[in-house]
Amino acid sequence: MTSRLLPPGFEKAVAILRQSSSVVVFTGAGISAESGIPTFRDGGGLWDQFPVEEFGQWAGLWQTALRRPEELARYLVVRLEPMACARPNAAHRAIAEMEKFAQVTVVTQNIDGLHQEAGSRRVLEIHGCLLRVVWVIDRKLKTELTRSDLAEVAAKVRQLLDAGRISFRHLLSVVRPLFGFGLRGWYRPDVVLFGDAMAEPEWSQAVRAASQCDVVLSVGTSGQVFPAATIPWLAKSRGATWIHVDPKESAGDIWLPARAGEILPALIEEAWGRL
Ligand code: APR
Repeated sequence: MTSRLLPPGFEKAVAILRQSSSVVVFTGAGISAESGIPTFRDGGGLWDQFPVEEFGQWAGLWQTALRRPEELARYLVVRLEPMACARPNAAHRAIAEMEKFAQVTVVTQNIDGLHQEAGSRRVLEIHGCLLRVVWVIDRKLKTELTRSDLAEVAAKVRQLLDAGRISFRHLLSVVRPLFGFGLRGWYRPDVVLFGDAMAEPEWSQAVRAASQCDVVLSVGTSGQVFPAATIPWLAKSRGATWIHVDPKESAGDIWLPARAGEILPALIEEAWGRL
């Protein structure tokens, strides 16, 4: 970003980061927007297209699968296709670079696995990850999926939709890599939906990291979902400085009104030198 485009607060954020030793980076859907994954609450976002009470919790998903399988199929295509072809963007990569200069803990609400793919080594997925499938009975790992596995499921669901042949039975058969019944009972994606307990031990580790950091950098989150959204507040209450990166204003000591992929590389480079 040329200096004339740098938002107000940028220099202050650089100075704070330069002096930091332990940073919690708290991310939401906005950091993956530039990787092509839709956010939830931006205009036209996921919860605008699909009511959260039906698609944001297991009971609602199950009801929709039984009563309106074609609607669930549409949701699955909208969710799986972007995740299947997503790659880390400049923001994910800049956060991974930060590990060379400070102790960084990424606490992410996202389930897309892009922070790890960008090279971040300490990532706490407090809402789980779509690339893992677990047994419902004990949340033990059943399988790790690749993005091409997601692409394959999405393509089969799209074929059913295009053929107009959507029934609960057909849908269940094509989503088997993600969801189904096996040797140890039902299995499902390792994600936290509304009403679920947070992922453990990730959540306890995130609370500990937030209590001990000296800077919390929140990126691309509306801060509307709890308890996840308590992380920056907890850090601030323990004396950390809160830098918030988001085109939309939110809480925080320093707000950088910019897109993550644009401002984070400039911020890290200015604070610690060329990436
Ligand atoms: N760079 C930075 N921020 C962005 C960008 C971008 N390129 N694009 C959008 N944003 C911001 C939006 O302005 C908004 O503030 O990202 C935020 C996205 O907010 P939400 O859609 O509410 O996503 P998030 O905060 O992650 O939601 C939290 O809600 O439904 C649950 O489980 C779901 O983990 C999710 C949780």
